Amino acid sequence: MAKPAKTFVCSACGSVFPKWAGRCEACGAWNTLEEQAPRPALPGGMKAGAVTRGKIEFVGLAGISPPPPRIPTTIAEFDRVLGGGLVPASVVLVGGDPGIGKSTLLLQAGAALGQSARRVLYISGEESVDQIRMRAARLGLTSAPMHLAAATQLGDILASFAQFPDAALVVIDSIQTMWTDGVDSAPGSVTQVRAAAFELIRAAKTQGFALMLVGHVTKEGNLAGPRVLEHMVDVVLHFEGDRGHQFRILRGVKNRFGATDEIGVFEMTGAGLAQVANPSALFLAERRGNVSGSAVFAGLEGSRPVLVEIQALLAPNPGGSPRRSVIGWDSGRLSMLLAVLETRCGLKLAMNDVYLNVAGGLRVSEPAADLAVAAALISAAADIPTDPAMVFFGEVGLSGELRQVAQAELRLKEAAKLGFSQAASPKRIAGGAARIAVPESLKLLEIGHLTDLVGVITQGLKRATQNKDPR
Ligand code: TYD
Ligand code: MG
Repeated sequence: MAKPAKTFVCSACGSVFPKWAGRCEACGAWNTLEEQAPRPALPGGMKAGAVTRGKIEFVGLAGISPPPPRIPTTIAEFDRVLGGGLVPASVVLVGGDPGIGKSTLLLQAGAALGQSARRVLYISGEESVDQIRMRAARLGLTSAPMHLAAATQLGDILASFAQFPDAALVVIDSIQTMWTDGVDSAPGSVTQVRAAAFELIRAAKTQGFALMLVGHVTKEGNLAGPRVLEHMVDVVLHFEGDRGHQFRILRGVKNRFGATDEIGVFEMTGAGLAQVANPSALFLAERRGNVSGSAVFAGLEGSRPVLVEIQALLAPNPGGSPRRSVIGWDSGRLSMLLAVLETRCGLKLAMNDVYLNVAGGLRVSEPAADLAVAAALISAAADIPTDPAMVFFGEVGLSGELRQVAQAELRLKEAAKLGFSQAASPKRIAGGAARIAVPESLKLLEIGHLTDLVGVITQGLKRATQNKDPR
C-alpha cells in the first residue's frame, strides 16, 4: 500500500502544497510553510469515500426553524457585537494584539455569565491560576462563580468537560497554547492549532456549550495560525485599539448568527473594561475647535451613529514624490479624493505631503466619510477652520458630485444630540430621500458638488472664529 503523502500548509493563508518551499505560492508569504502530519490511511485498502453509513435527509426551504436561543452576557456592548448574546454550542474566536485586553474582556464576560447562574469554565494556557485571581481581584470579580484552570494539554481538558455537562461557556485563552499528543508538532504550529481547535469545537457542538477561543494576531494583523481557524468558527471578533489610547473596539468580522458591522466600544480603566454607551462623546473628547484641517464626520458603525473627528495635515514637499499617509481610513480612497479635489476644484496638493488621521484610533470604512475628509483637506489647504458646530457626511463621485448615503436621519439625530447646529450633506433627491426628517436644532447645508464645499469652508471663516465649541 502506498504511504500517505506528506503535505505542507501555509500558516498565513492555509493553502496546502505537496512540497516545501520558502515562499507560499498562494499568498506570497515567506517561511510560512509547515509540515502537516499525513492523514491516516483507511484500513483494508478502502478508498476514501467508500465508507457508507446510511443516507442523509433532504428538506425543502420552506418551514420554520426557530431563531437560535441566546444567552446574554449582560455586557451590552459585547452582546451587541455577538448579535444579541451567546448562541449555545457556537464558537467565537476573539483576536487582537497582545496586551490589548482580550483576557480581561473574556474574564469579565465569563464572570458576568457566572453571576447570572450559568456555569463557566475558564482555561488559561498563558497565565497561572494565581495570576488570573489577581486580575479578578483588580476587576472586583472575586465573588463571581467560575471554574478556573491553567492547562494546555487538550486530552486533559476534554476529559474534564464530562464533570460539567451543564457548562454554558468555556473560555480557552489562547488556542495557540493548546496542544494534543495526537499531532507531533510544536504547540502554536498550524497543525497543532487546527487539531486543537477541531477537538474543542467538536466538544462544544456535542455538549452544547458556547466556546470562546482567544487567538493571537500576527504583525500583519491577521489572526495567527492558520486562516482556516476563521473558517472553522461561527463568529470572529477583533479586539482593536491603540495601546496609547484607553478605548478599545470590539468588531465583528464574521458572524453566522448576526450582522458583522456592529462594534462594541470599551474603555480600559484601572478596574478593567468599562462599557462606553456614548462613543461619539468619547471620540470627540479631545477635539479642539478653530484648528484648520479638522472636520467632524457623522458616521455609522453597524446600527449605531458615531461622530468622529477627521484630521488632515498638509506639509510642503517641493521636490521628490510627496507622501500620503493615512491612519484609520482607506489610502486608495484618499488618493481618489485628492485627485478629485485637484482636477475638479482646482486645489493644488501635488507639492504637499498629506497626512490623514481618524482621531482616537477608530477605523472608518464608509465611503460616507468622503465629504468630511474633503472638508478637512480643504480646510488644511486654505488654513481656515471648519465650523466647529458642523458635521459632514456624504459620498463623493469621480466628477466631484455628492451622493446620498444610508441612514442620514440617524446621523443627523446623533449630531443634534451632541449639540451640533449644522450638517453638510448631499442634496436630497426629490422623492425618496427628500423625506429625511431634520432635527429642529439642526440646519442642513445641502451640497451638490465639492466646489460648493470649498465655498462653505472659505465663507465660514468669520463664522468659525465667532462660534464656540458646541459642547
Ligand atoms: P490583557 O487582558 O492581559 O491583554 P491580552 O489578553 O489581550 O494580552 O490586558 C493587559 C493590559 O490591560 C495590560 O497592559 C494592563 C491593562 N489593564 C488595565 O489597564 N486595567 C485592568 O483592570 C486590567 C486587568 C488590565
Ligand atoms: Mg491574555
